[in-house]
Amino acid sequence: MKVILASDHGGVNLRTEIANVLKEMNIEFEDAGCDCEDSVDYPDFGIPAAERVASGEFDRGILICGTGIGMSIAANKVKGIRAALVHDVFSAIATRQHNDSNMITMGERVIGPGLATEIVKAWLGEEFQGGRHANRIGKVSEYENK
Ligand code: RB5
Repeated sequence: MKVILASDHGGVNLRTEIANVLKEMNIEFEDAGCDCEDSVDYPDFGIPAAERVASGEFDRGILICGTGIGMSIAANKVKGIRAALVHDVFSAIATRQHNDSNMITMGERVIGPGLATEIVKAWLGEEFQGGRHANRIGKVSEYENK
């Protein structure tokens, strides 16, 4: 599995923590920035990362900003992206099982590194359940492709 990781200035510290978690898990990943101390715009990092997941270059993506909200809004504009804003382990598991989410977004100003680590581990380890959920995702894709 290949993972892309990106953040704006509001998510740099949590992104560093998550990069260390991915290293410990021996998961192949690219850290796509930002290399920033100054303020940047989350779409400038979230959209290119989402495009690289949508293209198949990466299997999954993790985006971090201050709240996780801007990144989720931006990533979900990219066709084929199902980005889930997740701040608890239950949702991390459910969004893989039910939504086949290919990205998660988190807010550094919302949760701490301990919970974020548990979320990443749970999300990366969970499978999509298919069945009725595939039907529902199909309806979303159908709308997206209209
Ligand atoms: C940046 O200050 C902040 O607005 C951004 O990181 C994010 O929270 C937006 O949704």
